[in-house]
Amino acid sequence: MKNFINISDLSKNDLRSIIDGAKKRKSERGKIPNSQPDVDLPIKGKTMIMLFGKPSTRTRISFDLAVKQLGGSSIILNQDEIHYGKGDETIKDTAKVLSQYADILMIRTDSHNDVDEFQKHLDIPIINGLTDLSHPCQIMADILTFEESKGDINGKTIAWLGDGNNVANSFIEAATKFKFEFKIACPKKYQPNKKIVSEAKKNNCKLLITEDPFEAVEGADCVMTDKWISMSDKGDKKKKKKILKKFQVNKKLMNSAKTDAIFMHCLPASRGEEVTNDVMDGKQSVVWLQAFNRIHAQKSIIEWCLK
Ligand code: CP
Ligand code: NVA
Repeated sequence: MKNFINISDLSKNDLRSIIDGAKKRKSERGKIPNSQPDVDLPIKGKTMIMLFGKPSTRTRISFDLAVKQLGGSSIILNQDEIHYGKGDETIKDTAKVLSQYADILMIRTDSHNDVDEFQKHLDIPIINGLTDLSHPCQIMADILTFEESKGDINGKTIAWLGDGNNVANSFIEAATKFKFEFKIACPKKYQPNKKIVSEAKKNNCKLLITEDPFEAVEGADCVMTDKWISMSDKGDKKKKKKILKKFQVNKKLMNSAKTDAIFMHCLPASRGEEVTNDVMDGKQSVVWLQAFNRIHAQKSIIEWCLK
C-alpha cells in the first residue's frame, strides 16, 4: 500500500517522479477547462473519500478537481457529520468500512495520530491533507510552482519567516529529500517540531534556524510565510502575533533577498500580519499559481498512491 502521509516516508525518486508527473500531465492538458477530464482517464471507476475535520478552500476544491480530471469520482464528508468525528465509533471500525466503499482516502484533521491510526486499519491508501504536524500536499504544489518559476530546486535557497508550523515542518522534510537550503527565521518559542529538526540534521539537511529575519532572506531564491495563527493553535493569539511581528514579510525584507526572488504563501493569508499587501499583490508573488498548482500536484500524488 502506498500512503502519502509524511514527505519523509517517500524516497527521493518517488518524490521526484510525483513532481515530474505533475509537470507532464499539466502540460499535456494545455488550456482545457478545469472540469474536463484528461483523455486517458487513469483512475476511471475509482472513488476518493475526502474527510474534513477543519475548514478548507483550496484542498477541498483542488482535490475534487484532481479526481475529476483523472476520471474518478469523489465523496466529500465533514468529520462532525460522521460517527468517528462524534467519537461514537473507533477509527479502526470507520477505516474498515471506508475501505469497502472507496479506493483512496484523503483526510484533513487536527491530530496527526488519527492519520496514523487510520493508516493502520485501512485497506486503501491514505493521503494527509493537513494535520497539526504537517501539510505534505502543499509542499508538493509549492515545489512544482518553484520549479516552474526558477528551475530545479536542488541547490536553491528558500527562506521561511514566522511561525515554525505544520507547513514549515513538511518543508524541512522536503529540504532533506530535494536538497535545497531551508533558512527559517522564527522566535525561539515558535520553532518547528524538534523531532523533525533533529531528523533533518541527522540526514545532513542544509537547515538554518535563526531569530534574524534578514539572515534568513539573504541570498534566498524564494521567501515564504504562513498565517501566524494556525487552525490548531490554542494558545494566547494576541501574544503570539506580538512576538511574531518582526517576522512580517514586507518590501524591506523582500528587497534583502535575491533581486529575482519569488514570494510564496500557501494561503489563506492574514494580510497586514505575516505579509503586507504590496508583497502579496506584488510582481514577485506567485501565490495564485501556487493555489492553482494544488490540482496538478495532487493528481500526481493520487496516481502514485493508486499505482
Ligand atoms: N493551503 C491550504 O491548504 O488551503 P486550504 O486550507 O484552503 O485548504
Ligand atoms: N498553518 C496553516 C495552514 C493552512 C493551510 C494551518 O494549519 O491553519
